[in-house]
Amino acid sequence: MTKLLGISGSLRKASFNTMLLAQAAKSFGGDYTLADLNLPLYDGDIEEKGFPESVQKLHAQMAEADAIIIATPEYNGNISGVLKNALDWVSRIKPAPMADKPVAIMSSTAGRAGGVTALYSLRLCLVAFQPTIVNGPMVAVAGNYAAFDDDGNLKEESYQNAVDGLMEKLKSSI
Ligand SMILES: Cc1cc2nc3c(=O)[nH]c(=O)nc-3n(C[C@H](O)[C@H](O)[C@H](O)COP(=O)(O)O)c2cc1C
Repeated sequence: MTKLLGISGSLRKASFNTMLLAQAAKSFGGDYTLADLNLPLYDGDIEEKGFPESVQKLHAQMAEADAIIIATPEYNGNISGVLKNALDWVSRIKPAPMADKPVAIMSSTAGRAGGVTALYSLRLCLVAFQPTIVNGPMVAVAGNYAAFDDDGNLKEESYQNAVDGLMEKLKSSI
């Protein structure tokens, strides 16, 4: 079965981004695992002593995945520190875990723009990893506090269609 790894830029238990990933995984239909981004802050002194197990685990999960989905909140116009920290850690371990790997990016925010600015920023952050980023449809879920029902489903058909479209493209790029 196709291995799909989800990476959420939010550590919150009730995170809408984690919820969005779960919806995307349902649409994708593979063997889905949500990564744990609760890592220490990147510190070269820690790295010198050896990579933390949590970082090694994340790197291995990324390397083993057939495809990766990333969803981030927008914090002050950019991706979350949690996500950037995780990307910085895994970039230190070779081989590059996302090289030529199909990756789909999404965002979900309370604001009206759905995190579009963070999405473009994430795209730039990923350049160093040389993944194959699926170019849309764009999934940027605005007003997230009202966008999901109690079961975590997207209420608006247009958002669900965008997620389905993005997952179809992700599958076809494996
Ligand atoms: C530090 C911080 C900065 C934020 N900045 C923005 C922002 O720039 N744009 C926006 O739409 N929402 C912003 N928000 C609100 C988030 O979009 C909202 O909390 C979102 O639900 C967080 O994602 P999560 O549900 O996955 O945890 C910010 C929230 C925090 C905590």
